Amino acid sequence: MLILGIESSCDETGAAIVKDGRYLFSNVVASQAEIHNRYGGVVPEVASRQQLTTIIPVIETALDQAACCWENIDAIAATYGPGLAGSLLVGLTVGKAIALAHNLPFLGVNHLEAHIYANWLRGQTEVASQAMDDDWEYQDGDPLFPLICLIISGAHSELVLVRNHGQYELLGRTRDDAAGEAFDKVARILGLSYPGGPAIQQAALHVEEELRQQGKSATQALNAYRLPRAWLRGTYDFSFSGLKTAVLHLAEGATENHNPQHARSQGSAGTPGKQVSQYTRMGMQAAQRGGANVELLAASFQEAVVDVLAVKTRLAAQEYHVKQVVLAGGVAANVSLRTRLERELRPLNIRLKYPSIEFCTDNAAMIASAAFFHLLRGEQHDFALDVEPGLSLPFTKK
Ligand code: KG4
Ligand code: ZN
Repeated sequence: MLILGIESSCDETGAAIVKDGRYLFSNVVASQAEIHNRYGGVVPEVASRQQLTTIIPVIETALDQAACCWENIDAIAATYGPGLAGSLLVGLTVGKAIALAHNLPFLGVNHLEAHIYANWLRGQTEVASQAMDDDWEYQDGDPLFPLICLIISGAHSELVLVRNHGQYELLGRTRDDAAGEAFDKVARILGLSYPGGPAIQQAALHVEEELRQQGKSATQALNAYRLPRAWLRGTYDFSFSGLKTAVLHLAEGATENHNPQHARSQGSAGTPGKQVSQYTRMGMQAAQRGGANVELLAASFQEAVVDVLAVKTRLAAQEYHVKQVVLAGGVAANVSLRTRLERELRPLNIRLKYPSIEFCTDNAAMIASAAFFHLLRGEQHDFALDVEPGLSLPFTKK
C-alpha cells in the first residue's frame, strides 16, 4: 500500500510517499527554521502563511522523487493535531482536497502517534532488499511490543507504555515545559540559534572536544555548573522549568551556583559566571562568537535534562518488563541522550531503538507510517474531520 503523507503541524512542511508503513519512496521537508530564527521561536502567523506557499511544491517534489503519479497512490494521510491551528489547517485541507479529487481513502493522523511510528521507517536503500511477506502487522526490524516510548518534542514530554499497535498507557508527562521547549528557551537565554536543541548539542560537543584537546576529561564540561534536577520521585513525571530558571539566573550573572572546583580546572574557560553575564548583556552576537562559558553552561544544561530523562525511562522499562525502549520526537535526535540511555539499558538487556535523525524531527514519512497501521484495521476519516490543536494520544489508561 503506497500512502502519501502530509505534515504541517508547526514550522515544517512535509510530504512523503511510504510503502506499507515502513519503506521510503520519498521524503521532502521544507523547514522554516531560518525564518523563525530571528525571533528565537516559531511565530504562528508567519508559520501558517509559509505553509500555504510551500505545501503544493513540496507534494509535487515528493511525487517526482518517488517517480509516482496519482494512479500509484492508494491513500492520503495528513496530520490533524496536535499543533498550531493555522498550520494544521493547511496540510489537512490540502490532504482532504487531494483525496476527494482523486477518489482516494483519507486518514487524519495524530502527530504524536506518528512520532512513535517513525521507529517503523527504514531508509530508502532497504526497500529493494526487503523480502515482503504477508504479515503486515509485524516484519523483521519492527519495534517489539510491549515497549516504552519516550516522546520528547518541542511541545511534549511523555513516557508511554505501548502494549500493541494503538494501545497507549500514559506513565508520566511534563508538569511544565516540554524537553524541546526547555532546549529552545535555554538556547535563547544563551544567545544560541533556533531550534535550540541542535545548537546546544553543538555547543556541548565543541567544549567537550576542547577539553579533550587540553588533555582533560570531557565530563568536566557536564558538571561545570551545578544545575538542579527535578526527580519528582515516585512518579514518571518530568519538570524542566526550574532548570531553565537556574540557567537564566546563571546567565544573568548569579555566580554562586557555579562549581568552583571546575572553575579552577577550566583553563580557557576562566570565570564562567561573569563571562556569561557579559554574553547576555551583549546579546546574541557575542554569544554566537562561541564563548567557552556559554558552551559549558549549555553542556551542563544538556547533561541535567539527559540525566532525568534517561534514569526515569530506565526505571519504567524495569518496572514494566518491556522488550524495547523507543525514542520519538525532535529531542530524540540528541546524541548524548541516545548514548546515555543505551548505557542505562544495556545491563537490563533491553534494546534501545530510535529513528534516524531525519525521522526524529517533524516529517511526513512518519505520518504515512502511522496511517498505514490504521488503514490496515479498516479505519479512515470522512471530510468532516477538523484540526485538533490540543489533541493528545488516545490513552487506554491514565
Ligand atoms: O518533534 P519536533 O521536530 O517538533 C515538534 O513536534 O515539537 O521537535 C522539535 C524540538 C525542538 O524543541 C528542538 O530544539 C528539539 O526538538 N531538537 C533537539 C535536537 N534536535 C531537535 N533537542 C535536543 N537535541 C537535538 N539534537
Ligand atoms: Zn513533532
